[in-house]
Amino acid sequence: MLNYLSNKGGSDPVGFEKAILDGFASDGGLYVPEKLPEISLEQLESWKNLTYKDLAFEILSLFIDRSVISAVELRSILNKAYSTFEKEEVIAMHPLQSAENTWVMELYYGPTISFKDIGLAFLVNLFDFFLQRRKEHLSVIVATTGDTGPATASYIAGKSTLDAWVLYPKGLITDEQERQMTTLPHPNVHAVGVFDCPEGGDDLDYVIAKLYANKPFKDKVKLSSVNSINWGRVMMQTVHYFYGYFQVVDSVGEEINMAVPSGGFGNLCAGGLARKMGLPVKNYIVGNNQNACLHRIFSQGLFSKELIHETLSSAIDILTPFNFWRFLYFCVDGNAKKIKAWNDEFDATGKVEFDKQTFEAYSKGFLSMTVTDEETLYKIKEIYDKENYLADPHGAVALVAAEKLRQKAGNLKTVCMETAHPSKFPNTIKKALCLNKLPEAAMHQSIESAKTLCQRGYTCHHTHLEEALLDAMNKNWDLTKVLKN
Ligand SMILES: Cc1ncc(COP(=O)(O)O)c(C=O)c1O
Repeated sequence: MLNYLSNKGGSDPVGFEKAILDGFASDGGLYVPEKLPEISLEQLESWKNLTYKDLAFEILSLFIDRSVISAVELRSILNKAYSTFEKEEVIAMHPLQSAENTWVMELYYGPTISFKDIGLAFLVNLFDFFLQRRKEHLSVIVATTGDTGPATASYIAGKSTLDAWVLYPKGLITDEQERQMTTLPHPNVHAVGVFDCPEGGDDLDYVIAKLYANKPFKDKVKLSSVNSINWGRVMMQTVHYFYGYFQVVDSVGEEINMAVPSGGFGNLCAGGLARKMGLPVKNYIVGNNQNACLHRIFSQGLFSKELIHETLSSAIDILTPFNFWRFLYFCVDGNAKKIKAWNDEFDATGKVEFDKQTFEAYSKGFLSMTVTDEETLYKIKEIYDKENYLADPHGAVALVAAEKLRQKAGNLKTVCMETAHPSKFPNTIKKALCLNKLPEAAMHQSIESAKTLCQRGYTCHHTHLEEALLDAMNKNWDLTKVLKN
């Protein structure tokens, strides 16, 4: 039986189902499996031709006991999760002509056209499976910098086991992303636009943490989260690293590099764990924008919070990459006491400077870079002009970082993750291409059709958010109860 522990060490081990449905551990820590599976080269070899879903089945089976979910049930959850994807293979690989040995891994074929669909398609369907079995209902709350919210809302819409409360910093995401949340007609989706967030999306995370700490409220509304604090998201995201690897290597065992646009370190935490499990990735190239929270960690050993900059890669305008703590746990041999002490130090002072030994342990195989808006715009235009391929601003951050760090990273084959479809960021695309009208590659039918739908949602000032949510969620819960009785 594989148990899950808190990375801060202050709660009892739990099984997979509880770890998923709770989101946070009871001490506020992040759940981690008590042991990471080790995957041999022979095992990797036997997986190399699997479809995405079959590969996901093999990898997830290493983390989930059959007594909790049978093989048939797991396959059925995976089939259901990815049935709405535009591509049967879920992900596509695009070889670039203008950059040597470089592939773009397109992760945006889900219904809300960002990589968040990949983790949330599975996680929401997993929640629904557990809740139907238990005959229970949960209220899920998430904060979004633009892409988690739409994916959560889209998967939860219409599910009788779940309500979604989706918080976003108003004005700091694009209109297109906002519409993906506010045009859903389903009464179990509640989009909340929050004005004047001085720390962007991070402000919303603080309020969610407070709601979690309010036990009577949490128990009453049965609160949970599908943000990437939830182990299910990170676990699912390990799969695309393996899948991408198999698409580009000549033989299993060959080392490659992978470049990832990052903010909260959820996606890269999954990549780091995939490598610890045995995936031959030599370097992860961390594409950070001017907010640089990860670049400080990987270049200076400094986890610190600075003022937020609004950038063109707005979904990664993040100050606190909380999933780094989950990855760090595995780099310090599961020393939860250290993780707790560092978390406390960060909460008290806003920064942690890691000692040399810790820095060396976590930074091996990571190269980071901050990318400016000018470089992002230039890269979008350069690739479009050279080969008529359109990157989104986040994918472009990874592409710039990969290019600049290419020599340092050993000139290996490189997979760059394209985490959203460019149609979610039309103003940036127009600016990059110096056009008044969007080219076809920057359009998506789902974005176009949302333009003609009515919007529905709440708005609130960030200073009143906690109070407003307590009130609205309580009322909704009572209403749900009344309707159900
Ligand atoms: C388009 C896009 N790219 C990259 C990221 C960064 O993901 P992570 O926070 O897991 O590093 C996000 C997440 O917010 C995103 O929406």
